[in-house]
Amino acid sequence: MTLKLGTIGTNWITQMFVEAAHITGEYALSAVYSRHSDSGAAFADKFETEATVYTDLNEFFNSGIDVVYIASPNGLHFAQAAEALKAGVEVIVEKSAFDNTKQYEAIYTLMRENNVHVFEAARHIQQANFKAIAKKIGEMEHISGATFVYEKYSSRFDAYLAGENPNVLNREFSAGALADLGVYPLYAAIALFGMPKSSHYFATLLNNDTDGRGTAILRYADFDVTLIFGKGANSYLQSEILGYRDTIIIDNIAELEEVIYDDGQGSRTVISTPAPANPMVEEARLFAAIINEPVANEARYNELLLTSQRVNAVLTNLRKDAGVVFPSDPA
Ligand SMILES: NC(=O)c1ccc[n+]([C@@H]2O[C@H](COP(=O)([O-])OP(=O)(O)OC[C@H]3O[C@@H](n4cnc5c(N)ncnc54)[C@H](OP(=O)(O)O)[C@@H]3O)[C@@H](O)[C@H]2O)c1
Repeated sequence: MTLKLGTIGTNWITQMFVEAAHITGEYALSAVYSRHSDSGAAFADKFETEATVYTDLNEFFNSGIDVVYIASPNGLHFAQAAEALKAGVEVIVEKSAFDNTKQYEAIYTLMRENNVHVFEAARHIQQANFKAIAKKIGEMEHISGATFVYEKYSSRFDAYLAGENPNVLNREFSAGALADLGVYPLYAAIALFGMPKSSHYFATLLNNDTDGRGTAILRYADFDVTLIFGKGANSYLQSEILGYRDTIIIDNIAELEEVIYDDGQGSRTVISTPAPANPMVEEARLFAAIINEPVANEARYNELLLTSQRVNAVLTNLRKDAGVVFPSDPA
């Protein structure tokens, strides 16, 4: 069944997702929500499918859409997803999906009550090169540790330096380095190694009390995973998974363009394949398969949900550890 897709957010990432969804052949954009009818119309005009523009969320959710893709600022995800679930609409929500475990528990209840799914869009873990890393880890004799890095100067950082408070660097919108770029290395760690035994976050705060960069350490039974991420500087460090002698070397843990296996004895093998032009196609395809054939894909969905819940639990703990508070956090 072709899924009638609705979108929230008119920025470039929503365009990329709609293009990915159309590439799969499983979705057709049919409704666009925007706070402004002109920006909604300009967004809808980018695609060949006929989509109706809504500026009222309730009308949008009750317009007959099967699935909504939510790419609003993080702090709005919870309320928008909750409304979608109550209207019986399947939810794809951008990372980081929800602010804390309290929000996730409420979403889980609504999801079960309304018999629909919630998917967190974590595009990198569905990509072929991520699966190649997981496969290689399975073949390694031992894991000694890992370091995952994702630190990029944000296009909004100039505005911050000029005294503005852009959404993505503003904890009032549940944003910051960890909730934005930090999610990629965190997702990678949890998808590859499972739930850590403990986690710690050493954050550098901006002058609006939002974390601008930081280092998180995840402690597993036999090794640690160090996550380095930030939005106010450019890092060119690679990411690595260490065996004994052998090492997996990853150019970038979020973009995953080149992955090399070095056996520590003089031989290096490229284990990646060329990255897809649109990195959201794989996740869009998987979500459609689960929505269209929920019983056949129940185990895959449960795995996605468990990873998303674990990421949410560790995010909640890391922010608490660093004293980064969001407005929605329990007192
Ligand atoms: N997976 C990825 O690779 C990727 C990449 C980038 C971002 N993201 C995620 O996508 C989400 C959106 O990020 P973004 O940088 O695009 O955010 P953004 O530009 O701040 O906002 C996204 C959209 O939300 C609406 N919006 C903006 N400010 C708002 C406000 N104050 N109140 C209500 N609506 C508002 C706008 O749509 P209208 O003006 O049309 O209402 C805007 O197009 C985040 O969760 C982020 O983590 C994911």
